[in-house]
Amino acid sequence: MNIALVGTGNVGGALAQQFIKAGHTVLMGAKFPLSEKSILLATKIGEDRFTSIENAAKQSEVIIITTPPDMVLQVIPQLGNITGKTIIDATNSIRTRPENYATAYHAIKALTQSDVVVKCFNTTGFENMLNPTYSGQGIDMFCAGDNKAAKQLAQQLSTDIGFATCYDFGGDDKVELLEKFALSWINLAIMQGIGRDLAFKIIRR
Ligand SMILES: NC(=O)c1ccc[n+]([C@@H]2O[C@H](COP(=O)([O-])OP(=O)(O)OC[C@H]3O[C@@H](n4cnc5c(N)ncnc54)[C@H](OP(=O)(O)O)[C@@H]3O)[C@@H](O)[C@H]2O)c1
Repeated sequence: MNIALVGTGNVGGALAQQFIKAGHTVLMGAKFPLSEKSILLATKIGEDRFTSIENAAKQSEVIIITTPPDMVLQVIPQLGNITGKTIIDATNSIRTRPENYATAYHAIKALTQSDVVVKCFNTTGFENMLNPTYSGQGIDMFCAGDNKAAKQLAQQLSTDIGFATCYDFGGDDKVELLEKFALSWINLAIMQGIGRDLAFKIIRR
C-alpha cells in the first residue's frame, strides 16, 4: 500500500519505519523536506522518501496526519484531490486544537468534505508504535469513526506493524472519547510518572 505520512516527527517517524518494515511504500510529506530535524530519520529510512505534503498525498492511497492538531488547518489545503484516499488522523487535541473544531478529526472531515476518515494511532506513545511487543505479546490499538472501510484499513495497518488487535472504539461520536483514552495513557505514563514503557491490552474471559 502507498502511505503518505504528513509530519515527520516522533509519530510520523515511528510509523514510517514500521510500515516500511511491513513492506508498504512510504512517503514523508514535510513542511520543509529534509529540514535539519528530519536528517536523523532520513538516515534510517532514506532521503528519497521526503517530499512535499502535496506530492506525498498525490502518490498515496492512505494519508496519515501526524502533525500537531491545530496544524491540520494548514495541512488540509495541501492534500489536493483526496477522492478515493483514506485519511487517518493520529493527532490528539489535548494542548491545542484547530480553532472552531472539537478535534483535528472534526476539522479534517468538515474541511475535506470526505467521509473516508478514521482516528487511529493516537492512543499510545510513539515508542510503542516503533515496538508494540511486550514480553512476546503484541499490545492493542484502537480506532474510531463512522466509515467502516476506513476503520478496516486502519485495523489492517495496525496488525501489519505488530499490534495484536485494533479494536473498533465506535463511530464519530466516540472520537473524542478515544482522545480521552489517549489522555489516560499520557496521564499514567507522564503525569503519574509510571513511564512511557506502558501499554494498553484488552484481556477477555
Ligand atoms: N508523541 C507521541 O507519543 C504521540 C502519540 C500519539 C499521538 N500523538 C499525536 O501525534 C501528533 C504528533 O506528535 P509528535 O510527538 O510526532 O510531534 P512532533 O515530534 O513534534 O512532530 C510533529 C511533526 O509535524 C510537523 N509539522 C508541524 N507543523 C506543520 C505544518 N504546518 N505542516 C506540516 N507539518 C507540520 C513538524 O514539522 P517541523 O518539525 O518541521 O515543525 C513535525 O515533523 C500530535 O498531534 C500528538 O498529539 C503523539
